[in-house]
Order: sequence, then structure tokens, then C-alpha cells
Amino acid sequence: MVVEAVRGARVVVTGAGGGIGAALARRFAAEGARVVVNDLDADAARTVADEIGAAVVPGDASGIVPAARTALGGGIDIFCANAGVGTGGGPEADDAAWELAWDVNVMAHVRAARALLPGWLERGEGRFVSTVSAAGLLTMIGAAPYSVTKHGALAFAEWLSLTYRHRGIHVHAVCPQGVRTAMLRSTGAAGDLVLAPNAIEPEDVAEAVLDGIAADRFLILPHPEVAGYYAARAAEPDRWLGGMNSLQRTYEEMQAASEVGQAPANTPAREGEPA
Ligand SMILES: NC(=O)c1ccc[n+]([C@@H]2O[C@H](COP(=O)([O-])OP(=O)(O)OC[C@H]3O[C@@H](n4cnc5c(N)ncnc54)[C@H](O)[C@@H]3O)[C@@H](O)[C@H]2O)c1
Repeated sequence: MVVEAVRGARVVVTGAGGGIGAALARRFAAEGARVVVNDLDADAARTVADEIGAAVVPGDASGIVPAARTALGGGIDIFCANAGVGTGGGPEADDAAWELAWDVNVMAHVRAARALLPGWLERGEGRFVSTVSAAGLLTMIGAAPYSVTKHGALAFAEWLSLTYRHRGIHVHAVCPQGVRTAMLRSTGAAGDLVLAPNAIEPEDVAEAVLDGIAADRFLILPHPEVAGYYAARAAEPDRWLGGMNSLQRTYEEMQAASEVGQAPANTPAREGEPA
């Protein structure tokens, strides 16, 4: 597949030292793009950049637009706001945890857009790819900061799209369920229950992103079944919440079983499926 918007494009991928970001950076480079690899983990970013002949701009994704623009010779065509943190817990998670989730999963996107939009609007062209999550359309069991901030990331991407689409700005929201990365491995019982059963590879997400760009589609669903869960949630919220609550109770059983070293009683279901 040759994606015209990608060949020769100047692309930035945040959080690209591993996982989905690294797969995106590799795929964009393979499609003939000039890539900047960003990550908080400078060594990981450098390893990926060296492998694909990309430039590296390490550090917090929030403030990298000026340095990335310089590294690409003065302009950015595609910005992938991919860095994210999988903060778990509920209201009992402390303010620092909620603030980190808000800062990385939402404000980094806002700050990048703030830096990118003036140049893009002047040129009449630009592309913002937001790695959200199916949790931004649905929810994630056991992880309120993650669910809330991913809903925020989706809302921001939608707002950008509807506000600027007539001015040449293309926006994509990438909403996978489980993807086999370090983040998935860190989610414990909740990840085992709702993400692992139908997890895909980071390369599958990169493929879906390229397809989504080629089709100029806002919502990119590497797990196509998420569209049905999203529709069911909107059409019958109480039924959907009942199904998710059933999943929550299975999660609680799994946690209790793991505390006493036993297998859970129920078979794991998937995110958003009415149980
Ligand atoms: N893995 C999944 O199941 C899954 C599912 C849906 C969405 N996502 C989303 O995909 C994105 C990538 O996650 P992943 O699964 O590849 O996880 P990952 O942990 O493998 O990669 C995330 C990368 O982001 C980097 N990072 C974290 N905070 C950063 C910051 N402030 N600035 C720059 N880099 C930072 C980390 O160092 C890490 O290399 C995230 O936004 C995540 O929420 C993941």
C-alpha cells in the first residue's frame, strides 16, 4: 500500500521508544517518511531511531514540537500524540497519579496542537494522529484515571477535527483494545480479563493507522468489534453498564483468587461486551 499523505512526510511520534509508538515510527519510515522518535526514555528512543534512520528528540512529549520541527528541517506534516500512561485505581488514587494521567494523556495533546496549529492553518495542511484507546470510547475496568483521561483525549481529537477539517487539518483517533506492549503487561488481572484475550500486535495497530490515513477516517478501530460495543453503549447505557458490572465482578473474583493462589471461577469476557 502506498499512502500518498505519508511518503516523504515529516512525521513525529511521541512515546516511540517501544510498543505502539515504535511500531508507528518503523511503519512510517518504511513508507518513506522522515521520522522523529520521541520518548521519555532517551536510550529506548535512540535505539529505535538508529534502527530506522530517524532523528531522535528525547524528553517529555508535552514540549517537543520546536525541537522536532528543527530536527525535520523546519516543518511537521504528521504529529502522532502516542505517549500515554496507564494509570489505574479509582478516586483513591492520589492527586499526583490523576495529574500525571491528565498531563500525559490529554494536556500533551493540547500543548502539541497549540504549537502545531498556527503553522498548519497558515499552510492549510496538517495531520494529528491521537493514540486514544477503546477505553476512550468505552471504559477500562479498574482504571478510572486512564478511562477518564482517554475520554478527554477522544473529546479533544473530535473537537480539533470538527473545528479545523474545512481548513486542511486531518485528525485521527486510534482506539485499540489490548495490544501486546509493556503497558498491557503492567495491567495485571484487569488486563488479563479484558485486554489479553483478543490482544493484537503493535504492528497491527500501525497497519490500521496507515489504512485510516489512506481512507482519511477519523475513528481508527484496530479491533473492529469495538464499533458495536460503542453503539451498544450509546443505545442502551444501562444494559451496557450492567454488562460491564458483571465484568467488574469477575475481575474482583480474579483478584480474590490470585490472593489465595487459585484460578478464577468465571471465564474472562472482553471489554464492552454485555456479559
Ligand atoms: N497496550 C495497549 O493495550 C493499549 C491499548 C489502547 C491504547 N493504548 C495506548 O497506546 C499508547 C502507547 O502505549 P503502549 O501500549 O505502546 O505502551 P508502552 O508503555 O509500551 O509505550 C509507551 C511509551 O510512552 C513513553 N512515555 C510515557 N510518558 C511519556 C511522556 N510524558 N513523554 C514521552 N514519552 C512518554 C514510555 O516511556 C513508553 O516508551 C498509549 O497512549 C496507550 O494508552 C495502549
